[in-house]
Amino acid sequence: PLKQMKDGMLPLSPPQEGLDDLGSMKEERESTVSITVVGASGDLAKKKIFPALFALFYEDCLPKHFTVYGYARSKMTDAELRNMVAKTLTCRIDKRENCSDKMEQFLKRCFYHSGQYDSEENFAALDKKLKEHEASRLSNRLFYLSTPPSIFIDAVRCASQSASSANGWTRVIVEKPFGRDLGSSAALTRALKQYLEEEQIFRIDHYLGKELVENLSVLRFSNLVFEPLWSRQYIRNVQFLFSEDFGTEGRGGYFDNYGIIRDIMQNHLLQILALFAMETPVSLDAEDIRNEKVKVLRSMRHLQLEDVVIGQYKSHTKGGISYPSYLDDKTVPKNSLTPTFAAAALFIDNARWDGVPFLMKAGKALHTRRAEIRVQFRHVPGNLYKRSFGTDLDRATNELVIRVQPDEAIYLKINNKIPGLGMRLDRSNLNLHYAARYSKEIPDAYERLLLDAIEGERRLFIRSDELDAAWELFTPLLKEIEEKKIAPELYPYGSRGPVGAHYLAAKYNVRWG
Ligand code: NDP
Ligand code: BG6
Repeated sequence: PLKQMKDGMLPLSPPQEGLDDLGSMKEERESTVSITVVGASGDLAKKKIFPALFALFYEDCLPKHFTVYGYARSKMTDAELRNMVAKTLTCRIDKRENCSDKMEQFLKRCFYHSGQYDSEENFAALDKKLKEHEASRLSNRLFYLSTPPSIFIDAVRCASQSASSANGWTRVIVEKPFGRDLGSSAALTRALKQYLEEEQIFRIDHYLGKELVENLSVLRFSNLVFEPLWSRQYIRNVQFLFSEDFGTEGRGGYFDNYGIIRDIMQNHLLQILALFAMETPVSLDAEDIRNEKVKVLRSMRHLQLEDVVIGQYKSHTKGGISYPSYLDDKTVPKNSLTPTFAAAALFIDNARWDGVPFLMKAGKALHTRRAEIRVQFRHVPGNLYKRSFGTDLDRATNELVIRVQPDEAIYLKINNKIPGLGMRLDRSNLNLHYAARYSKEIPDAYERLLLDAIEGERRLFIRSDELDAAWELFTPLLKEIEEKKIAPELYPYGSRGPVGAHYLAAKYNVRWG
């Protein structure tokens, strides 16, 4: 890119135009991908990135020539990295045939380089090693920034100046958090763009890589029965629910600086909402989809404090076991007001969704672990059968549930006649239960996203204008909560969260699913 050349930097992505079919076949045959996990000694690398790379290797999804490099400050030999990867590599492949043979083959492709994140010299040494593996092939390079965000800019600067590909593409996957508010996020984007073009930046939101989130558009746009109902005319409210049955365990230091609104709502739930509510994109092309998502985000009404409830978990003893409070975490300040729970009512001020409450609820240390989208439909006008339900009419409306995790499923609650001579109705489910319908296990979100980044598919990554719009929506609210020092409502560890969430839902005539 001209900007980088002008600044005297190495081009990160030399233009690839002019390759005819034969040229691309040759490139396919002779190219290599070097994947560098920056922050390889860390939690995410062990838990998600290496297992996902192995699963892709097992499934023959990685290119023929590839190398994985771990990069971090910790001192480690190649053998120690391999040992670490093998030991922590618990993934869906574990019980498959030939797993250990495949693992041996995979580990032979894994190497480690110890270096500082702000040292061009250390990245130049990495570059030298990468070149040895790449031989004289066309070399494509993927850097995965799996470090705390304070390291991102240094690492990108050093990678771009000292370790970018000289003849292929260079791409960088950036982990969340992308800033803490609109200002810091824009500053991060500006800083990254000093060294990278937008198309080289792959901002990851791993919820977009989840099977049922990907399926959302398929469900809606390829089934005639859903799309016509997808508007204020038939939908009463939509709920985006996230809960975990454990606290911040071990991540309190990170979490306290962010809180549940930044950790889950502003990204994971909002991204799902945008996909759910967008207009039909012109095509499945990444830019067309992201154009539609950004329109939804920009049509959203600014969040009001009175439409938000925040909570924080407190200790609780159940069955003789005592569960800690958020403040018991040693890495959390004793007087922290950081919310571990939030519920919010959001509105999209466009023709399709005018007046429909989009409710979000996200919390840690709740009674269950789940992520769901619930679509509650309006009442059937002039329902002939209302008597058969008694007075609880609310129970008689249809509800579509998309259970993202665990135990993936899509089910539609319908009214049905209870078999027999009388006329009594109940609610039953038309149920697509993934485990029963599909025998193949579901890939982890990180597998899909890593593969997409290698293939240059940007559909499931966040574009900078989407990110700006998401922060524009949440920043004033976050500022107000912090400036006014709003105290979170305490809820016991393992409960359903603060009662305030029920009042919020009731204000909009909604019952949480
Ligand atoms: P870690 O805190 O484990 O950090 C990763 C590595 O970065 C460490 O092993 C360490 O390597 C280096 N590092 C840590 N702190 C510093 C520091 N202050 N200065 C310089 N280097 C440091 O992070 P995670 O692996 O948990 O997460 C990585 C990224 O992914 C973060 O941005 C996180 O927010 C995000 N993320 C993490 C999730 C998770 O479940 N862990 C989930 C979703 C996102 P060394 O000392 O060897 O250099
Ligand atoms: C991360 C959050 O983005 O998502 C964590 O930072 C949260 O706090 C995690 O636990 C949940 O991801 P998953 O895939 O386990 O639902």
